[in-house]
Amino acid sequence: MNILCLHGPNLNMLGQRQPEVYGTTTLLEIDDGLIELGQSLGVQVRCAQSNHEGELIDWIQQARGRVDGLLINPAGYTHTSVALRDAIIALDVPTIEVHISNVYKREPFRHKSLLADVCVGRLMGFGASGYKLALQGLVGLLQADPPRTPT
Ligand code: DQA
Repeated sequence: MNILCLHGPNLNMLGQRQPEVYGTTTLLEIDDGLIELGQSLGVQVRCAQSNHEGELIDWIQQARGRVDGLLINPAGYTHTSVALRDAIIALDVPTIEVHISNVYKREPFRHKSLLADVCVGRLMGFGASGYKLALQGLVGLLQADPPRTPT
């Protein structure tokens, strides 16, 4: 089973960026933890981060037919990107939207997600450890309802 984990803009700054909101765990630590958890669950996890909407969309398009599930923290694009939404629909695999912070405890403009209803689930407010919870949840869903096409 192959899982792609994408991180959106400014998440490369984790560890330095607003630690009171996002904690002190770095992106490298998050990715290493996901890969390690993936190994223990018997799934291959690939992680990538971009500050560019188009690059995230390119990666999602390239993942078509190659991945069984997507974890994505779209960061600021959560609240703005129709194009990312369309790419996730076209990818057509179970997708989980992850947020480190609880966006509902923050500014009203963060309460809206253009992606939420095209994802199987959303996980937020658990800090960096939310990514691991999301991976466990996604793998559980995929095992219960295995992918339609072998990858
Ligand atoms: C975030 C929440 C977004 O509103 C914000 O723009 C981010 C990070 C989170 O993980 O809590 O960059 O996605």
